[in-house]
Amino acid sequence: MMSSKPKVLLIRDDFPKKAIDLLRTRCDVKVLKRSKKDGLITTQDVVDCVPGMFSIFCYSGIPINEQVLKAAGPSLKVIGTMSVGFDHVDLTSMKKYGVRLGNTPGILTETVAEIAVGLIIATTRRFFEANREVKTGGWQEWIPGWMCGRSIKGSVVGILGCGNIGTSIAEKLINFKVSQLLYTSRRENLAVKALGGQLVTVDELMERSDFVVVALALNEDTKFIVNKDRIATMKSNAILVNIGRGELVDQDALVEALREKRIRGAGLDVMTPEPLPLNHPLMGLDNVLLLPHIGTSTIEMEEEMAVMTSQNILAVLDGCPMPHEVIF
Ligand code: DGY
Repeated sequence: MMSSKPKVLLIRDDFPKKAIDLLRTRCDVKVLKRSKKDGLITTQDVVDCVPGMFSIFCYSGIPINEQVLKAAGPSLKVIGTMSVGFDHVDLTSMKKYGVRLGNTPGILTETVAEIAVGLIIATTRRFFEANREVKTGGWQEWIPGWMCGRSIKGSVVGILGCGNIGTSIAEKLINFKVSQLLYTSRRENLAVKALGGQLVTVDELMERSDFVVVALALNEDTKFIVNKDRIATMKSNAILVNIGRGELVDQDALVEALREKRIRGAGLDVMTPEPLPLNHPLMGLDNVLLLPHIGTSTIEMEEEMAVMTSQNILAVLDGCPMPHEVIF
């Protein structure tokens, strides 16, 4: 028998059960069929499965573009993305087709800030190189200078973009007794100011920081904000950490700076493209630490984000305000 419940397209079948059970109380949940069993999900897969859907439950790696929205037809009312970032959603087309968007900010702030702090420590104290030395017999006797990193204490930390996540990173890092905390923001951030943070320009932050932490959302204004010219002004001992989106950084210029050791290193949870091909130049560099976009990857957080995504979708069904709607 045909279900009369509104249909929701799940991009995968392994989202947290609590969230999907919640959706199932009111919706007919369909799982996307992949054309290539072991391959990545393609836009064509989404296009093929989306006609007649009321909603798509997706995440940041899946482009929601005009092709998808057009294929869905007039039944599509809401996209629920299990992410704070929404750069994968074409807002102009969403407007054109009258589709609303819910995301999951706020709840994930601390979890993403943790990964930024982790990347700073692991990169500056060379955790991954050191781990490799232990496991490959490189650790023999204590040698002065061997596996030495640089302290966070006494350093200048610059946070590019001081929204919720940037503020939380600042709150955490101040306990490391940094000498100066710099940040950029559209307006003064009183919480960060209270910690001693100084609002500066992007150029000033890039030039003065020992650690540059990129914590911005990606949009037309921020794309490639860490460009070649700005990378060229970084200190020779500086480390760049990116937990925002790969396209905030001119990655080719970063590769060049790392290869020529013009900066000390980088710790990246995000890059371009994702997943990064195994033959990409970043892969061969010892002074870069790469993580597979795991900023929100804790068991607790994924469940919370998935539940909020379902709640966003159900709110539209009920004609209620979403727990978090992106207004555009
Ligand atoms: C987000 O929520 O935007 C994270 O980057 C995971 O996609």
